[in-house]
This record gives sequence, structure tokens and C-alpha cells, in this order.
Amino acid sequence: MAAKRAQWGSKIGFILAAAGSAVGLGNIWKFPYVTGQNGGGAFVLLYLLAIALVGLPIMMGEILIGRMAQTSTVTAFRTLAPRSGWPLVGWLGVIAGMIILSYYSVVAGWSLHYIYLSLTGAIGGADPEAVKGLFGSMYGDVTLNVFWHAMFMIATAVIVIGGVQQGVERAATILMPALFLMMTGMLIYAMTLPGFGEALDFIFGFRLDQVTGATVLEALGQSFFTLSLGMGAMLTYGSYLSKQDDLVGSAISISVLDTSVALMASLVLFPITFTLGIDPAGGPGLVFQNMPAAFAQLPGGAALSTVFFVLLSFAALTSSISLLEVVAAYFIDERGWTRRQAVVVLGTLIFALGVPSALSGGTALFGARFSELTTPLFGLVGKGGMNWFDTFDYVASNLLLPLGGLGIALFSAWRIGEQARRAEIAAGSTLGALEGLYLTWLQLLRYLVPLAIITVMLYALGIFELLGLI
Ligand code: PFF
Repeated sequence: MAAKRAQWGSKIGFILAAAGSAVGLGNIWKFPYVTGQNGGGAFVLLYLLAIALVGLPIMMGEILIGRMAQTSTVTAFRTLAPRSGWPLVGWLGVIAGMIILSYYSVVAGWSLHYIYLSLTGAIGGADPEAVKGLFGSMYGDVTLNVFWHAMFMIATAVIVIGGVQQGVERAATILMPALFLMMTGMLIYAMTLPGFGEALDFIFGFRLDQVTGATVLEALGQSFFTLSLGMGAMLTYGSYLSKQDDLVGSAISISVLDTSVALMASLVLFPITFTLGIDPAGGPGLVFQNMPAAFAQLPGGAALSTVFFVLLSFAALTSSISLLEVVAAYFIDERGWTRRQAVVVLGTLIFALGVPSALSGGTALFGARFSELTTPLFGLVGKGGMNWFDTFDYVASNLLLPLGGLGIALFSAWRIGEQARRAEIAAGSTLGALEGLYLTWLQLLRYLVPLAIITVMLYALGIFELLGLI
């Protein structure tokens, strides 16, 4: 006899867990630096549009599939579309989850190492140039990278073993409010800095001349990753949702929370950047090099730096939980494994898969030599020189997630029967019962979303450059 399926303990528990999945390194590490590289305001506006017109509709579709089937990703597609190719979309998600978690854990591990550095006084009051150099020495240190990667995977596994209510939901209800509190504190601090006005203008000042085709596509791609769409995380979390809960309202709350954290992170990072005259277009090093160098020069730098990296680690943890949950849930629902068995076996496997990423900076085999090996392949589309880590990130974010998202959009908008879909959206939701809203959502998901995803994929694959269009 099948055991009773796990459910969220409360409506807010689901929203916090799903927002926890969405809010992660993508918001605090990636969003600010991509905004910086794309000139600020124009990118932010396009990003907000992408969240509303593409991200939100897919999220509703993804949660809908999960709640309708009441089971995790592969099984969900099979239940709703027996004897079809659709379960492949679920499979894609399980594979993407393993790949993303393998390197996500390495970056989250860096964040843990920076908590250690902050606490041991290596950052506050130190020489800013020396602080910048800390990243290079850490990146090249193989043992250190593997150690923190292991610590982070263990933390993720322990929570997921706890189960839906006692593990995932409980962690989110503690970590997410803590994250908001810390973020608000940092924001209040940032508002007192002389660079705050300049930062506001940078983030919200819309300058039309900065909008290029590439900005639009970058904004779309980011909206996708940041909302955890396309690999069944929202689907799996939706499968623990009861029919009385408001699907539409929840999806809106999750998107608003995620967007708020991304904007808040920018409002913390850019005032510091401008106050200290750091280049806002500095790229991926913004969080791990420029921020610590800035903290070194600010009063109370050690405390600020500790809070910031604890915040970043919490954000990463609630996202990694969802990545592992997707993979584990497949083996629990489909293969009948116990939760503990699934988490231990898959956690170990994903840890091993992440070791080459942890070694990318310190060994030629996974770093420089790996880049040489892949350059003939990726060089074709102008993406040469990627090490193991970059390759995993590239393949997952630019290929697997968009493909999964396309599958989810097409499935929920075209394959599910009209009556069932309408009933599912309206169940427990005042907003969902509005005819105009339902039709707008459906039209977006049917036409605009697939078109947007296909365009983003062609762009990420370098096809536009290859054809000389960009
Ligand atoms: N949304 C997370 C972030 O912004 O960091 C990343 C992520 C988590 C993507 C879970 C996909 C996913 F299923």
C-alpha cells in the first residue's frame, strides 16, 4: 500500500520553501553583477518585464503540473500523459538538478569559507588589495575547495533527509526570515553611504540607449534561472501542495519575494561599490573580491562581512535543498527508495560530480587543460576556454533549463485538457477564478513564452553571433 504523500504544513510554509528555492546565488551573486555589466536601469526594467511576462506564467504552469499529479517530476508527466514522450521533460529536470547542484555547492562552499575568513579577522581592517587576493589563493587551493564543497553538501543532505515538513519547510521558515532581516539591516546601512544616490540612479535610471538585443536576452535568461524554473523544482514543491491552496496567489508571492531580494541585493552592493569607487561592471568577482575588499575599508567591516556571507550561504542552502529534493523525490516516488537511502546515495554521487568543479582552479586537468579540450567544440559558437565548472554551468543554464522550461510551458498550455487546467487554476484561488486573468496567462504560455525561450537558447548557443545578427 502506498504511504500517504507528504504535504506542506501550511500555506506560508510552501511559499517560503519555494521562495527559498528561488532566492539564491542567482539573486545575490549573479543579478548585481549582470546588472553592472549591462549598464544598470535598462537591464533592471527588462528583467522585471521578463519575470512578469515569462517567468510567472511558467511558474504557474510548473506548480500546476505538480499539484495536479501529486507526484514528482518524471512520474507526474507519466501520470498526466501515459505512454508518451513527455516523461523525458522530467528526466531532463533530474539530470539538470544533479549537474546544477554539483557546482552550485562549490560556489556556496566559497561563501562558507568567507564566513570563516570574516570571523578570523582576515577581512575587516585588512589591506584591500590583500583581501582581493584571498579569492585567488582559495580558488587555487584544491583541499580547501573540496572541504567546503563537502560541508555544504552535508548540510543540504541533512535537511533533505528530514523530509518535506520537518526538513525542507522547517529550514525555510527559519532561514528565509533570517535572510530578510539581515538583508534589511544591510540595506539600512547602505542607505547611509554617500554612494546610495548614485546607486539608485544606476539601478532605476532607465536609459534607452543601453537597450540592445543582448540585454533583452540576458534579462530573460536570468529571470528563468532566478525563479528556479525548468527543472521541476517548482513542480516537485507543487506536488506537496493541497487542492485548497491558492496556486496563483502563491506563484505571485514567490516571484515578488524573489525579485525583492534581487533588488535589495543590488541596493546593498552598488552603494558600497560607488562609495569606494569600484567599477560596477567588474563581473563575477563582485561578491567574492570587490565586496570583501570594500568591507575591509568600512567601519565594522568584519561584522558586515560575516553577516553578508551568512546571508549568502542561507540563500544558497534553501536553493540547494530544492535541487536535491527534485533528484531524491524521483528515486523515492519512482523507485520506492527510502528518503534516507535516496539522499545518501544521490548526495554522495552529486558531491563526486562536483569535485572536478572544486578542482577547476587548482588542477590543470579540470582547468586549463579541460578548456583546451572543449574549445574546439564550444569555440564553434564563440564560447571557447571553459573549464569543467564553466561547462557545467553553461550546459545546465543555457540548454537544460530552457529546454525543460519549454517542455513545461508546452505541456501545461497545450497538452493538459482545457477543463482540468481551468479547474486547477481556479481551485482555492480568487484570482485564478477570473476569466481575463486565466486567458491572459494561457495566451502568454502558449505563444510568447515558447518564442522567448527558443530565442534565448539560440542566443546562448551563440547562433545569433554566428549569423552576424548581434
Ligand atoms: N533559483 C536559484 C538561484 O537563483 O540561485 C537557482 C536554482 C535553484 C535554479 C533551483 C534551479 C533550481 F531548480
